[in-house]
Amino acid sequence: MNREELMQEFRNRFHKEPANIFFCPGRVNLIGEHIDYNGGRVMPVAISMGTWLAVSKNTDGIIRFYSLNFPESAELHLQSSYSKTGSAWFNYPLGVIDHLLQDGHTASGLDMLFYGNLPVAAGLSSSASIEMLTAFAMKELFALNISRKELAVMCKETENRFIGVNCGIMDQFAVAMSKKHHALLLNCDTLEYEYIPFEAGGFSLVIIDTCKQRMLADSKYNERFAECGAALRLFKKELPHVQNLCDISMADFELYKDIISNPVLEKRALHVISENQRVKDAALALQTGDLATFGKLLYASHASLRYHYEVTGRELDTVIDFCRGYKDCLGARMTGAGFGGCAIALVKERTAGDFSNSLESYYARAIGYPPKINFAEADEGVREIRF
Ligand code: GLA
Repeated sequence: MNREELMQEFRNRFHKEPANIFFCPGRVNLIGEHIDYNGGRVMPVAISMGTWLAVSKNTDGIIRFYSLNFPESAELHLQSSYSKTGSAWFNYPLGVIDHLLQDGHTASGLDMLFYGNLPVAAGLSSSASIEMLTAFAMKELFALNISRKELAVMCKETENRFIGVNCGIMDQFAVAMSKKHHALLLNCDTLEYEYIPFEAGGFSLVIIDTCKQRMLADSKYNERFAECGAALRLFKKELPHVQNLCDISMADFELYKDIISNPVLEKRALHVISENQRVKDAALALQTGDLATFGKLLYASHASLRYHYEVTGRELDTVIDFCRGYKDCLGARMTGAGFGGCAIALVKERTAGDFSNSLESYYARAIGYPPKINFAEADEGVREIRF
């Protein structure tokens, strides 16, 4: 779908021109998984797939939500607040609008048509993409004095309170703040961030969609969130100054881990604390152009997510097992929440075609259907698409 096609769809539906078109990307996380809600560092990049919104204000006092991806739509009268309706897709933009209204901003009627090319529930942040797209569009349409950083916090709160998932800030921050050809190194506790050049010269960043939807992802995600909270409470008995699991060093983990008698909680804490260290090492490797070390850290991250955090599964592990055996693949890991969804791999550019063909047949033999493979580049965050 290009811009002209989206505009035509808008005209067909609303019998007028859209005033603006906005785009918000999805993201992959290079490293730092299940870290954001533990107050550590993550390293996502925005990708070129994402969600578009064609929009125009109306004077009917009605907010209309339509999508080219889903049959459900909604037409809601302007109110001072809204609540979630079942599991329909429009809860995401509705939750954002509700948040803005609760914060005292005013809105008018809106005609909105969404279209996205991100696989849903595949770990590429389709939810953060549509949330941030709506938030950014509202900021532009109503000249709201809110920074991108504040929009990210607001979208995260929407996801936590309106949608009911205890996610951290990574996805919303990444799709708002990312910069082309750069990875975003974000401290999820302080929201300090920096950009690290990521052009992967001579290498391709490959996204492998296992096409396994993240079954029960939200409940398992909230379970991990609770386990981390429980581990933190135990560590605090010995380390009262600690606010987040990621404030604990590997050395302190070794010293105090016996305070956790539950082996599951110990494994969860080990993943979080070691992963946070891996992000710091990966940032250094990227800054010094040491892609070999960077790649090894990706593999180590996956192993930790597989054995300690237990959020991978057969499909993702099959992809990573293949990658490990492929000479020109520097590193690979699952990305996002896990339990299915996507993996990323860093592969030498000249063999990327062969890599993708061989992986397709290997995966199809093992799992019974092929994966979907895309090549990605680090892209820009949310923006208006000018006419
Ligand atoms: C999902 C959440 C993020 C983050 C990742 C795991 O994408 O939305 O906040 O926790 O999982 O790293």
